[in-house]
Amino acid sequence: MEDEEIVKGYDPIIMKRILSFLRPHWKLGVIAIVALVIGTIAELGMPVVVQRSLDNNLLVNWARIPSGAEAPELRAIATGTGISALRLPLSLPDEVVVSGFRYVRSTRLSALSGKDRAALEKRGILEGAENGWYLFRPDAKVQGQAAVITAHASAISEEDGVAAVSRADMKGFTPAERRMLRDQDSSGLIVACLVFFILLVSSFAFNFIETFAAQLAGQRVMTDMRMRLFNHTVGQSMAFMNKNPVGRLVTRMTNDVETINQMFTDVLVAFMKDLSVMVGVFVVLFSLNPHLALITLCTLPPVAIVTMVSRAKARDAYRRQRLWMSRVNAYLSERLSGIQVVKLFARERASVKDFRGLNANLMKANLGEMYVFATFRPLVDLFAAISTGAIIYFGALQFTNLGISLGVLIAFINLIGRFYQPVQDISEKYTILQSAMAGGERVFQIMDADEAIPDSGTRLLPTGIRGHIEFDHVKFSYKKGEEIIRDLSFHVLPGETVAIVGYTGAGKTTLINLLTRLWDIDSGGIRLDGVPIAEIPLGDLRRAVQPVIQDVFLFSGTIMDNIRLGDDVSEERALDAARLVHAHEFIEGLQDGYNTVLSEGATNVSSGQRQLISFARVVARDPRVIILDEATSSIDTETERLIQLGMKELLRGRTSIVIAHRLSTIQHADRIFVMSAGRIVEEGNHQELLKARGMYYTLYRLQYENGFGDEE
Ligand SMILES: Nc1ncnc2c1ncn2[C@@H]1O[C@H](COP(=O)(O)OP(=O)(O)OP(=O)(O)O)[C@@H](O)[C@H]1O
Ligand SMILES: [Mg+2]
Repeated sequence: MEDEEIVKGYDPIIMKRILSFLRPHWKLGVIAIVALVIGTIAELGMPVVVQRSLDNNLLVNWARIPSGAEAPELRAIATGTGISALRLPLSLPDEVVVSGFRYVRSTRLSALSGKDRAALEKRGILEGAENGWYLFRPDAKVQGQAAVITAHASAISEEDGVAAVSRADMKGFTPAERRMLRDQDSSGLIVACLVFFILLVSSFAFNFIETFAAQLAGQRVMTDMRMRLFNHTVGQSMAFMNKNPVGRLVTRMTNDVETINQMFTDVLVAFMKDLSVMVGVFVVLFSLNPHLALITLCTLPPVAIVTMVSRAKARDAYRRQRLWMSRVNAYLSERLSGIQVVKLFARERASVKDFRGLNANLMKANLGEMYVFATFRPLVDLFAAISTGAIIYFGALQFTNLGISLGVLIAFINLIGRFYQPVQDISEKYTILQSAMAGGERVFQIMDADEAIPDSGTRLLPTGIRGHIEFDHVKFSYKKGEEIIRDLSFHVLPGETVAIVGYTGAGKTTLINLLTRLWDIDSGGIRLDGVPIAEIPLGDLRRAVQPVIQDVFLFSGTIMDNIRLGDDVSEERALDAARLVHAHEFIEGLQDGYNTVLSEGATNVSSGQRQLISFARVVARDPRVIILDEATSSIDTETERLIQLGMKELLRGRTSIVIAHRLSTIQHADRIFVMSAGRIVEEGNHQELLKARGMYYTLYRLQYENGFGDEE
């Protein structure tokens, strides 16, 4: 596990495959993207609204061009700048003629440099660029406004419904009078507030929609992936399971899938968001003031360099951290599950010492990662601060030159903050992207595994099969080159009980694996009622041939659930089966009877009782052929008696193969095969084999002398 790649560079092929999981949920993706764009626009619109109301309603100033004055520079004034993207309603256009004077809004003069403007003012072509005139539309509905205009008739000139008053004159008015004249600005501010509020609410709402849709899509993709993985894994052969430890498969279906989900929600969506914010900010900055925007752009390369360096460092740190994390996990889970051995062999101190080392390394790795982030984050912060400082400096310089308005300056400072925020997250996101790549690769490795036992057989077994088993020169190896079954041939006649004995590792359990096609043979043939088992559909074969496996496995759940294992066995059948194999007595004796909940590993019933339950499970399916792989663990005499009784019923009227370790169990078998190193070396019934004084005799003597066998 440890050597596995934890992070991996960007790989377009894996990315494409990961994205292909998004295809069924493309509608959610579209919703997320649309919401993202709208949300970003709303978010970026807010500083613009502030800028607009500052420049158009709070700090209004008009400059004056004496009529008849013409200069090429004035063409620049006419073209002007200003953003049209978000225009709040203005009560006046940007250029108005009142009493023979052309008035232009000061904000439109930003196209002129301070020097040009000073020159123009000197030549008398431009007046009051800085502290000039206030223009408004006299409105009869504003109470008292008309009276103010009449009272100051000398200061206010009026033409075509537009009135102009110089700011110097206005200073002499009372605050109340000024308020009456500037009524249009208060209503403009109210509109701006409303627009701001709408933008705020919609930015919140669309952010919510975007997050929700993206998360939902991510969760659905995860669910699909886990489903596909589980489905695929369950279908694989035992050979595949042998190669892939359970722990690893579990990690694939949980952790690796989760990193992919993280990539969707944290990286992909956030990346699009960051990108759209950054692009959006630049668009807004350029439309507000290209000059200042260019200065901002200059601060980008150093940040990009810092980001790239930190990215590499972050990857190494992350890799180390994950490595030590997995080592600590592995050590902990092993030592804790084997705590009994740890205690019995007095390994507590040594274990603690080992763990101290691992733990310290994990801390070092964690600190290493911290260190990278601790240096990188402040660095980006620093660049963001320097950039903001530069903007304030150059902006203020322009502002004093009247090159830009205060509103634009404030909007710039605000937007720069938003611009650097995404940059700060990039390195963290890159790490997630890398682990998602590695995770994706491993997930697809499993999805691509194609080691299922072929199930293409179509030969149907007759309903009343007899159960004639035939092994014909069978050869088999788990691993290439290590032959376990060597040229094995035998018959089991319908209804016959055959016992197989042999030393441990002789290949007895392997026979079950071959007959039930958990593994496929290398050469030779296995036939059931004359039909090669490879030609029988797997489901039919496994219904006809049921093994009672050596290491009984019960699932957590009730005893009833474990006997029924699904709905194709009714409760009555399960009860009958339990009675038949004499499991009923002890189950009824339990406090909750059949509803007793088994713990993980069924440790709350004895191993003999586990066996009885597994007998009932098999009998309830009523298979034609039963293979009994006897458990090696010894059990008490009472349970042994019960199991003997249960076995008798289990095997009655069926073709059966009994793999026995306690020779006492098989003395009544019709025939006994003695297996050694993948071959049958002796055959006969109990008495015959004893007489032959071969391997069976030796085995029997050994057990008898050790007091395991009971001589008849
Ligand atoms: N899944 C497996 N992958 C690789 N080798 C295996 C596997 N299962 C068993 N073997 C090997 O095959 C040989 C036969 O194993 P098998 O389980 O058939 O023995 P057995 O006769 O049932 O032994 P026991 O009496 O201890 O139950 C052993 O040498 C074992 O190492
Ligand atoms: Mg075995």
